[in-house]
Amino acid sequence: MHPEPSQLEELFRLLSKLTELRGISGRETEVREFIIEQLEPVSDSIRIDPLGNVIAQKKGSSNAKLMIAAHMDEIGLMVRHITEEGFIYFSPIGGWNEAILPALRVRVRSFRGAWVPGVIGVRPPHLLSPEERDKPVKMDKLFIDIGASSREEVEEMGIRKGSPIVLDSSLTRLAGTRVAGKALDDRSGLAAALKAFIDADPGEVSLVFAATSQEEVGLKGATVSSYSVNPDLALAVDVTAANDVPGVDEQDAVAKVGMGPTIKIVDGQSGRGIIVSEEIIDKLVEVAKNSNIPHQVEVLPRGTTDATAIQLSREGIPAGVISIPTRYLHSPVELLDLKDLYYTVELLKAFYSQLEPGWLEGLKKRIR
Ligand code: CO
Ligand code: ZN
Repeated sequence: MHPEPSQLEELFRLLSKLTELRGISGRETEVREFIIEQLEPVSDSIRIDPLGNVIAQKKGSSNAKLMIAAHMDEIGLMVRHITEEGFIYFSPIGGWNEAILPALRVRVRSFRGAWVPGVIGVRPPHLLSPEERDKPVKMDKLFIDIGASSREEVEEMGIRKGSPIVLDSSLTRLAGTRVAGKALDDRSGLAAALKAFIDADPGEVSLVFAATSQEEVGLKGATVSSYSVNPDLALAVDVTAANDVPGVDEQDAVAKVGMGPTIKIVDGQSGRGIIVSEEIIDKLVEVAKNSNIPHQVEVLPRGTTDATAIQLSREGIPAGVISIPTRYLHSPVELLDLKDLYYTVELLKAFYSQLEPGWLEGLKKRIR
């Protein structure tokens, strides 16, 4: 099966819309409202839980239940201090490589709802000593300049301690079917899970879609939503680190962009993330093969996903992960291939449509 250009165009539009929305961890309202709007016409039930997770269901005829989870939040910053002269110091929300911060464009949310543009200040080379030139400036020494000249001016614009800050970058089409922009982690997973949920025809198995909150700060939304949903199996849909770039040896690539979604085997340092059961890996690979969906398998040495928290919910919930290979994670130029996004949707749909309630309900008893 190959995607038509019009199908990739549709995915590009959905991904553009989702990445345009601004929602750092714990401040996901913009994303949540859009997701609810999309889900309302197609769901049998929708609810929002106290952590802000959106949980929608298409009811099947049996008690068996598959949960698909993707996180709504993106990494960001928060206002920590405003100086007398109107400069803004900030704290990180989520995992940053601080070397990329100087000279970035950002948006700071006013409590009136506007997103105020700003830039992260950077020292000009003219003023740097040879020693300073060699080392990156620490994040707590960096500041945002919104063009204001005093603290009063900043405050009058509706910015105060705790105001959320996001990267300012829009989704750009690159060569072929590749795109780059902010928050592909995890709006691409969210796009795939949303599209698969919308398209799915419920049969015997109920399908639950959880758009989770606060993944980037400790898998928090997944922890509580999986408790309330209590599925027989959960699949997290997230990005993974494609490291298929110059200067990286083949064995360290993890995944390659354009080669299909990856089926997770293990992640986190020394397996402290998830170790997916072999039965779940085998099933996902089997479905990908018999549906002719290109795919890869993934061993990720660092980082993890919602599935890690879900697996430890209640008495233990079988969980797996489908990832979209993405370069330059946690930056304004995250890069992926729309074909991988397309095949992620196809894999989710094929997996759901081929599920047997008996197999699914037996998962909690068969340990492999
Ligand atoms: Co992330
Ligand atoms: Zn993610």
